[in-house]
Amino acid sequence: MLDTLQKPTTPPTQPRAEIWSRQLLHWSGIILVTTVWVSAALFGLYILAFYASALYQDDMTRWNQVLPRLYERSTGTATTGIGLHFAAGGIILILGSLQLIDSVRTRFPAVHRWVGRVYVAACVFAAVGGLAFILMKGTIGGSTMNVGFALYGLLMLIAAVATYRYAVMGDMVRHRAWALRLYALAIGSWLYRIEYGFWIMFTNGLGHTKTFDGWFDQFMAFFFYLPNLLVVEAFVRASRRHVAPIARFAGSFVLLVATTFLLIGTYYFTLYYWGPAIVNWVTGSPQGRLGQ
Ligand code: HEM
Repeated sequence: MLDTLQKPTTPPTQPRAEIWSRQLLHWSGIILVTTVWVSAALFGLYILAFYASALYQDDMTRWNQVLPRLYERSTGTATTGIGLHFAAGGIILILGSLQLIDSVRTRFPAVHRWVGRVYVAACVFAAVGGLAFILMKGTIGGSTMNVGFALYGLLMLIAAVATYRYAVMGDMVRHRAWALRLYALAIGSWLYRIEYGFWIMFTNGLGHTKTFDGWFDQFMAFFFYLPNLLVVEAFVRASRRHVAPIARFAGSFVLLVATTFLLIGTYYFTLYYWGPAIVNWVTGSPQGRLGQ
């Protein structure tokens, strides 16, 4: 009798909501990461196809088709820096998401450790190469873009070092949180293109100029990585035990909406930019002109 009276103090729907919200958050996270992986890997392949093939075919002027001044015979060190950063960036985007897959981490820890070392080193090279370019030549958009991109590079360096350091120290909670921050920063360069693609599609490029100094360009110099860091913080907190199921449902909804946008963006970018460059590379056809 006492048992029967006491039972309603725990609402019967609570455990079910708890389980479903956890499952939904888990699966929406997996779907988002898979989408990001496929899309970012396509962008990574495009970078390698486009920039590496120009280097291989000794036609370096093609590097200036998307952004001017990336290749200039007179500034060899800056060009080497940006080239290093392309190679590292391509590697990061292709490898990155592998590190987040639970089964790879638990079943093949040696793979996780080795890919992790290459990944962290590539992040350091991408950041250092980009920072060297900014210091020597500055970005196309001028001071706001210089500050935005330099901060991006510095944050990436800090996150790469912290991810590695906490792994070596065996502090897995901090390692995981920093690895997620590093991942959020690393996919920023890819998000930058997707976000520009949507903006140009919906507004016909309002606030964007060819020299990247319009109000939208200045906003974008920060917007491609700062919101990602906020999403990671929200995700890290939502993964903790004490969060209410409703917060997990809300988090899952945000992740699923983000996935839908990314799928649409990836479709159009692959159709018009990344796909043709990759196909031309694979078939050995000459690379055509590409736009931002
Ligand atoms: C995953 C990491 C990264 C990838 C994949 C990547 C990719 C690229 C690509 C492909 C370009 C050439 C433009 C284009 O074809 O769209 C570029 C330019 C550039 N990136 Fe990155 N990037 C990454 C990280 C970084 C970081 C961390 C910095 C910060 C220092 C940085 C700074 C720059 C700069 C300064 C330019 C030249 C902008 C200009 O000409 O004004 N990148 N990046």
